[in-house]
Amino acid sequence: MPSNRTFTMIKPDAVENGYVGAIINKINASGFRIVSMKMTQMSLRDAKLFYEVHKERPFFSELVSFMSRGPIVAAILEKENAVDDFRTLIGATNPEEAAEGTLRKQFATSMGENAVHGSDSNENAEIEGAFHFSVREMF
Ligand code: RTP
Ligand code: MG
Repeated sequence: MPSNRTFTMIKPDAVENGYVGAIINKINASGFRIVSMKMTQMSLRDAKLFYEVHKERPFFSELVSFMSRGPIVAAILEKENAVDDFRTLIGATNPEEAAEGTLRKQFATSMGENAVHGSDSNENAEIEGAFHFSVREMF
């Protein structure tokens, strides 16, 4: 995947709360092009694989049960400096610390249920994008 791409998921809490349209609008308005997008649900096994880097962390079991409890919207996004700019758009992991105007400030409810995922490096963007999309689903 080219280094101007990142991977995102609109998490189960934001889907449940009816925020999908508002979040996609804000992503588009912030200059990201949608390369791939789908609504899907991760199994518990999928979530454990996706978040394997966090498997020793105390919040791991809470995280994987949350991420598999309902549908998500997964997407690959394109923009110059995509990984960093998207992390800026989503805001801090804890919504109480997220800056004004960020997606987590507006849509997240807690540290655990924080509405949106964004890749933290070009390498992880590629791994995470390939986890959810085949090359023929990238446009
Ligand atoms: P993400 O990977 O989802 O974009 O979030 P992030 O980089 O801001 O945060 P990360 O450290 O990668 O943690 C992944 C997700 O685990 C949940 N978490 N819960 N209860 C807790 O202390 C805690 N810490 C992290 C959050 O859902 C976080 O987004
Ligand atoms: Mg992360």
